[in-house]
Amino acid sequence: MLGPVILAASRSDRMRRFISAAPGTKQVVDRFIAGEGVDDVVPIVVDACGRGLEVTLDVVGEDITTPEQAAAARDAYLELIARLKDLGLGTKAEMSVKLSMFGQALEGGHELALANVRPVVEAAAEIGTTVTLDAEDHTTLDSMFAIHEELRKGFPQTGCVIQAYLFRTEDDARRLAAAGSRVRIVKGAYKEPASVAYQDKGEIDKAYVRILKVLMEGDGYPMIGSHDPRLISISQELARRAGRKLDEYEFQMLYGIRSDEHVRLAAEGHRMRVYTAYGTDWYGYFMRRLAEKPANLLFFARSILTK
Ligand code: FDA
Repeated sequence: MLGPVILAASRSDRMRRFISAAPGTKQVVDRFIAGEGVDDVVPIVVDACGRGLEVTLDVVGEDITTPEQAAAARDAYLELIARLKDLGLGTKAEMSVKLSMFGQALEGGHELALANVRPVVEAAAEIGTTVTLDAEDHTTLDSMFAIHEELRKGFPQTGCVIQAYLFRTEDDARRLAAAGSRVRIVKGAYKEPASVAYQDKGEIDKAYVRILKVLMEGDGYPMIGSHDPRLISISQELARRAGRKLDEYEFQMLYGIRSDEHVRLAAEGHRMRVYTAYGTDWYGYFMRRLAEKPANLLFFARSILTK
């Protein structure tokens, strides 16, 4: 019940101002956000990779309103990639981007987002790593998949995300499960209408397994984005049945969530990538994390009230 309310609040400017200014917010935000800038996140990347983990880095931000903000988002990624260059981590540190932050929702936004993301993908390739396009709300996906296809012409390793809660995703998975493709499957984190998405958790989980099967049996590289213990063991079983070796798929989890599990899976020999978000425009990302687990909201409310 609470999840949809929190997701609705994630689009409200009034709530954004209220929550951003509330005392106690920072303490909770810090659990999910790895810092404000590159200087904060680089030591976290080094530490994670030193512990046998891999990372995908997200400069938080979305719903920008001017082309200048979109260019600033591009530059933030370019600054990050320039810093990663010296670390020589290759694909151990890749990037995740939201096309809305690159201007996708502005006038002429499809072209603008493509023009902004292309240099990021090029710079990532120059240091031997890749970029994955995150999936946002369902109205943005045709544009995201078209940009993904365009980028893959020059950079076939560019990844994308598909969301199990959408009815369309099984078809998308079949199209994407081709040689050389990198596809992250997640449950889906946005508020979507019943006309396009399953609303029931059980239905979403069943769809996740069906889609995962398509990816595992296909020729691409599946990236399993979930903290759900049941789905993780099902993934391991499906990978085994599909005859995949440990380096022919990977697990991905979010920074700050089930961190013991990151280490446990890596110790078992799995490739485990931690989605590490940082930056100052954390509101939308943070609210989606609250919506995923109502207990987070209680913790958040308590930390505000005790400040
Ligand atoms: P589920 O929500 O059932 O959680 C399983 C268990 O994990 C919970 O019982 C709890 O223990 C723990 N958990 C999960 N979320 C938690 C939280 N916020 N706080 C504390 N504990 C939590 N979505 C999207 O629409 N587009 C995208 O591009 C991405 N990208 C992405 C990348 C990666 C690496 C991950 C892991 C997830 C995403 N997501 C996403 C988010 C995804 O759609 C989904 O909302 C979350 O992963 C939560 O779903 P789970 O599969 O973890 O299961």
